[in-house]
Amino acid sequence: MIRCKNISKIFNVNKPNELTALKEIDLKFKEGELVILKGASGSGKSTLLSLIAALSKPNVGEVIIDEKRISKMPDNFTSLFRRENVGFIFQKYNLIPTLSAYDNIILPLIPTNPNEKQLHKRIDELLKTFCIEDKKDVLVKNLSGGEQQRVAISRALINNPKIIIADEPTANLDAKLSLDFIEIIKSLKNDATTILIATHDPLFFDLDFVDKIVELKNGEVIDVSHS
Ligand SMILES: Nc1ncnc2c1ncn2[C@@H]1O[C@H](COP(=O)(O)OP(=O)(O)OP(=O)(O)O)[C@@H](O)[C@H]1O
Ligand SMILES: [Mg+2]
Repeated sequence: MIRCKNISKIFNVNKPNELTALKEIDLKFKEGELVILKGASGSGKSTLLSLIAALSKPNVGEVIIDEKRISKMPDNFTSLFRRENVGFIFQKYNLIPTLSAYDNIILPLIPTNPNEKQLHKRIDELLKTFCIEDKKDVLVKNLSGGEQQRVAISRALINNPKIIIADEPTANLDAKLSLDFIEIIKSLKNDATTILIATHDPLFFDLDFVDKIVELKNGEVIDVSHS
């Protein structure tokens, strides 16, 4: 369902600071798989996730999702593709600090002219799941790091995406909230959502419902283990 076909990502091409962040990556993920990306800082995890989410394009090779060659699509198509299919939890949350938690969560759906009443219910459910229901109307800049992260997770889940991409989702969560997050991932997996998580958090490395662990080193895949 997700295919990375011989992709390379090079930053600052032909400049003195040229850097190959990913080199000839060839990976396939099936629908409903839970995949963990691991590797040292700078190994290329975030870069790979942004290519799969069609947030950037590879210099070589292509990303194919459900037979669509998304890395070849123009930007207006990729943003539509993302809105309909992908929930992205960013390493640096990408929330809008001057908007409330609620407004940040609803934001990706505004262009679709959503049914407000259904949406309210869904947002309330999500906020409750993450124990931030009392923060609904608080401006994001006034929330703690862990609270902001939970808003970001809620925003990624609001459109029931087929693909969830999470970059260090538990980096600012305490042990209890990290375990809660893992429970949510487990239930999403049961809904046949494909989930890709880049993480350093050892909590993810021996979960029995993880399908694949992909290890990157200096932009190359050095190991793929199946459980
Ligand atoms: N926009 C960019 N311009 C130039 N270099 C970049 C850019 N984005 C990433 N890089 C470089 O590409 C390499 C891979 O970065 P990436 O963010 O993918 O690593 P990572 O595995 O996610 O690391 P971490 O665990 O610290 O999040 C790094 O050397 C980084 O400095
Ligand atoms: Mg990263």
